[in-house]
Amino acid sequence: MVDVILGLQWGDEGKGKIVDFFAKDYDVVARFQGGPNAGHTLYLGDKKIVLHQIPSGIFHERITNIIGGGVVLDPVTFVKECESVSQLGVDVRKNLCISERTHLILPTHRALDKASEISKGNDKIGSTLKGISPAYMDKTGRNGLRVGDLLDKDFKSNYLNLKAKHQRLLDSFNFQEDISAWEKDFLEGIEFLKSIKIVNGEYFINEKISSGSRVLAEGAQGSMLDVDFGTFPFVTSSNTISAGVCTGLGISPQKIREVIGITKAYCTRVGSGPFPTELNNDDGEYLRKKGNEYGSTTGRPRRCGWIDLVALKYACMINGVTSLVMTKADILDDLEQLKVCTSYMIDGLESKKIPFQMSHSLIDPQYQHFKGWQMPTSSIKDFSMMPQEMKTYISFMDQYLGSSVKYISNGPGREQIVAI
Ligand code: GDP
Ligand code: IMO
Ligand code: MG
Repeated sequence: MVDVILGLQWGDEGKGKIVDFFAKDYDVVARFQGGPNAGHTLYLGDKKIVLHQIPSGIFHERITNIIGGGVVLDPVTFVKECESVSQLGVDVRKNLCISERTHLILPTHRALDKASEISKGNDKIGSTLKGISPAYMDKTGRNGLRVGDLLDKDFKSNYLNLKAKHQRLLDSFNFQEDISAWEKDFLEGIEFLKSIKIVNGEYFINEKISSGSRVLAEGAQGSMLDVDFGTFPFVTSSNTISAGVCTGLGISPQKIREVIGITKAYCTRVGSGPFPTELNNDDGEYLRKKGNEYGSTTGRPRRCGWIDLVALKYACMINGVTSLVMTKADILDDLEQLKVCTSYMIDGLESKKIPFQMSHSLIDPQYQHFKGWQMPTSSIKDFSMMPQEMKTYISFMDQYLGSSVKYISNGPGREQIVAI
């Protein structure tokens, strides 16, 4: 059986921490989509680690970690990540493997990402510039190179052909940057990749499932960034939702058991695009400062706002969420009043649904107000000790969403999580 942990908002919900916490109950942790655009933070004691492509189960020696075929992998970032986890005593050659179907991010994909964003001017997506969209375009356009191709004797010439094609595109963008340093790192990176276990991902994972192993699928980004169901075109280029687990790992829907959705106690977004509950005021600034809301991958300040139950309910529906984890509850500790978005006013009409085109609709979020708890909660270990105001906030969410919050995360540390 396979359980899934994924983000229900616009990313950065705390997936890394929560996967690391739950990992002890699993034998395999698998990434099924996304790539180095992800930044998943976890703490080992007071040591902070940000993982981009390596699954967040890597610090559990017993666990096999697999990068699935739905991921797009940048060998350059991968080498750096492997170096940093190796320094913490992890043997990546032992407990990490990569599906041969995983597509490679080439230096020219990164250049194309940048060229495309520049060409969009004010309409830019705000991409992480990691080459995600061009790499997925080459996958669906049936041109991409995969990890399994590295072992092919024609790899170098296939690489040069694809690079030449990209170069023509870059010329059309009038993109001038010298990418020779990126290419040097890339060619070194692919040599390193060959030293990692490359497996047939779909047989690997299905055989694990058949033999009774418990698999945890780790989502990247968030449901509102899903290429099909997110706030298109301000999305990423993969299926971040639970359906992506099947295509990204090669398993059937019947194998999926729990879908654990993660939401912050408020909401953030990094990059461009609609965000109805965004706060461009002191409350927003407060959340950014107290929540340390700066991108784990790019360092950009995250946009902050109140929790949006319309969007969350939509995400629960699309994913088939079976339970919820609410993170960063401690960030709300000092606030006198909390707001929860329960509907949108669109052109004078109230709606509890996500409209087709969020970007072009003027959405006026409608809020229910809650009293803040105004007491420190980050060292509380037992839910019964949590303030009544927090319990009220959570039970309102449970009721609205029709799915229960089962854990509250009340700090970045491994132990700062409280079961309900
Ligand atoms: P991910 O991409 O979903 O893994 O999330 P990120 O790692 O990008 O961002 C989440 C940030 O919040 C990280 O800096 C975490 O260390 C931190 N974090 C996670 N859970 C909590 C929590 O409950 N409270 C606080 N204060 N910080 C948290
Ligand atoms: P994790 O896994 C937050 C956002 C970018 C941009 C849009 C498209 O850490 O939650 P891309 O580089 O994918 O083409 O960018 O998606 N984005 C993320 N935002 N967390 C992430 O990952 C993100 N990955 C991409 O900011 O708006
Ligand atoms: Mg992140």
